[in-house]
Amino acid sequence: MPLTLLPATSPERRVRCIVIRKAVFVEEQGYTQLIEDNRPDDDIAIHFLLINGDDHAASLPDLSPLGTVRLFLQPPTTLNDTSRITTPPTTIYFISRLALLPQFRGNGTGAQFVRLLEEWIFEQVEVGRCVVSLDAQRGTYGFYEKIGYVRESEEFLKEEKIPHINMRKVLRE
Ligand SMILES: CC(C)(COP(=O)(O)OP(=O)(O)OC[C@H]1O[C@@H](n2cnc3c(N)ncnc32)[C@H](O)[C@@H]1OP(=O)(O)O)[C@@H](O)C(=O)NCCC(=O)NCCS
Repeated sequence: MPLTLLPATSPERRVRCIVIRKAVFVEEQGYTQLIEDNRPDDDIAIHFLLINGDDHAASLPDLSPLGTVRLFLQPPTTLNDTSRITTPPTTIYFISRLALLPQFRGNGTGAQFVRLLEEWIFEQVEVGRCVVSLDAQRGTYGFYEKIGYVRESEEFLKEEKIPHINMRKVLRE
């Protein structure tokens, strides 16, 4: 059965995202009020559910997603201080709140989830440099390195003082 990335465009699908994020980040990992506090961010993000099955499965009423994620489009960084474009435009998509429910982890599901996201991003960016960025929690650096992400910062404290590192992957130079 293929895994499919399903845009969470309807209110019902957005609720599914929040339910998974609460289960993983609040109940499992102990973050407090993280989801509610990020509502302004949520409003400008693109949300996805990961489902087991093809697009047809998305129409089933008993949809039971494996995971969720949100994406932000970061502003392109194309102009230098002389206002002349000296490099092709760079588009940066920022991955946030990547979460699989515990029973669906392992066996490469997380890696496949990110690969589907990268394919989606690549299709959006028709020209120029295309980069995926994320702030990885300590404990997940090894996962992201395995799937091609490179450390771009020192460790810093973010969101309830959890150590993170910014990591990036270039999808197109
Ligand atoms: C992080 C997460 C998405 C990874 O998904 P997963 O299905 O467990 O990972 P995969 O099975 O796809 O792992 C792919 C590879 O990374 C490795 N890996 C997975 N998690 C790892 C970790 N925490 N540290 C080091 N390596 C890890 C696997 O061993 C595998 O290696 P292999 O290809 O040599 O076999 C999942 O564990 C999760 O949802 N965790 C809770 C939420 C979370 O912490 N999100 C990250 C926020 S930054």
